[in-house]
Amino acid sequence: MRVLIGGGSGFVGRELTRLLRHKGHEVTVISRQPGPGKITWAELESHGLPPCDGAVNLAGENLMNPLRWWNESYKKDLFSSRIDTTKSMAQAIAASSSPPHSWVLVSGVACYKPSLTAEYTEDSEWTPFDVLSQLVKEWEASALLPEGVTKNTKQVVIRSGAVLGRDGGAMKQMLLPFWLGLGGTLGSGAQPFPWIHVSDLAGIIAKSLEPPAAPPPPSPQVLNGVAPALSTNLEFTKELGRVLRRPTVLPVPGFVMNAVMGSERAVVLLQGQKVVPKRTQEAGFVYTYPDLTSALKEIVGS
Ligand SMILES: NC(=O)c1ccc[n+]([C@@H]2O[C@H](COP(=O)([O-])OP(=O)(O)OC[C@H]3O[C@@H](n4cnc5c(N)ncnc54)[C@H](OP(=O)(O)O)[C@@H]3O)[C@@H](O)[C@H]2O)c1
Repeated sequence: MRVLIGGGSGFVGRELTRLLRHKGHEVTVISRQPGPGKITWAELESHGLPPCDGAVNLAGENLMNPLRWWNESYKKDLFSSRIDTTKSMAQAIAASSSPPHSWVLVSGVACYKPSLTAEYTEDSEWTPFDVLSQLVKEWEASALLPEGVTKNTKQVVIRSGAVLGRDGGAMKQMLLPFWLGLGGTLGSGAQPFPWIHVSDLAGIIAKSLEPPAAPPPPSPQVLNGVAPALSTNLEFTKELGRVLRRPTVLPVPGFVMNAVMGSERAVVLLQGQKVVPKRTQEAGFVYTYPDLTSALKEIVGS
């Protein structure tokens, strides 16, 4: 299979590329920078879709970029880097004379309203309630293929929780303070923390890229890209401290997080959703890291 990965040079894309190559597939990355095994977004727009059997978009300005203040220009970049790239790929697929058999977007669980009690599956109804849920709405809408034009292309949207892995994402920023014994709960710690190990997310994407067994439905299939274990921030903090053998007694108050990150962004860490991967499991995906202990042990190498 030939797979085209928008934003494939990033944290999730590198893991997905490793997995796909290991399975014998060919990978081409779409990037802002030219290079071997890559095409640029400008080339996609001017030359159209290169031959491919599956396509996935992972491009997007990093939401947790510690070097960027939360302001209008950053928010604009978060929206345009996701929506414009997704639109470019969807348009290229729709215009192709031989479109891929699968088209996958990885979005986020920020569409589900934070709650200490509600449990969300892929069937849960939602409407935007803040800036990040509005982002998910516009992002997912930009992936839609026009009905009838590409009726043999399966469309999949994977709503990912925080992606945990050694080489990037949230863990990269957390490991040092935890190693130094400076780790602690964020806010009350009672908030749910939806997460997934990067290798399981890559596995769900790879499975979604497989050709459909039957003619695909016209609307996208949604899969929650989270681990089946429901964890809170306190459980995550204690478990990370335990596998690192470090104390976790220094909580970070919510007002500090809001001041440093901006409250619209800090919501991702200070509040959270109980997200259940109902359809992901019904579809037969078997997790390698279903719980925090196995995931964090792999990440810290203990
Ligand atoms: N990591 C998580 O915890 C998490 C959680 C939920 C959802 N997601 C979503 O999953 C996708 C993959 O996540 P990731 O952690 O692999 O992302 P990442 O490493 O931060 O970024 C992926 C790629 O996006 C491209 N990119 C960055 N800024 C861009 C911009 N301003 N305009 C266009 N392209 C840009 C870069 O590729 P080039 O430099 O090659 O252009 C980068 O390698 C993202 O869309 C992310 O929002 C991630």
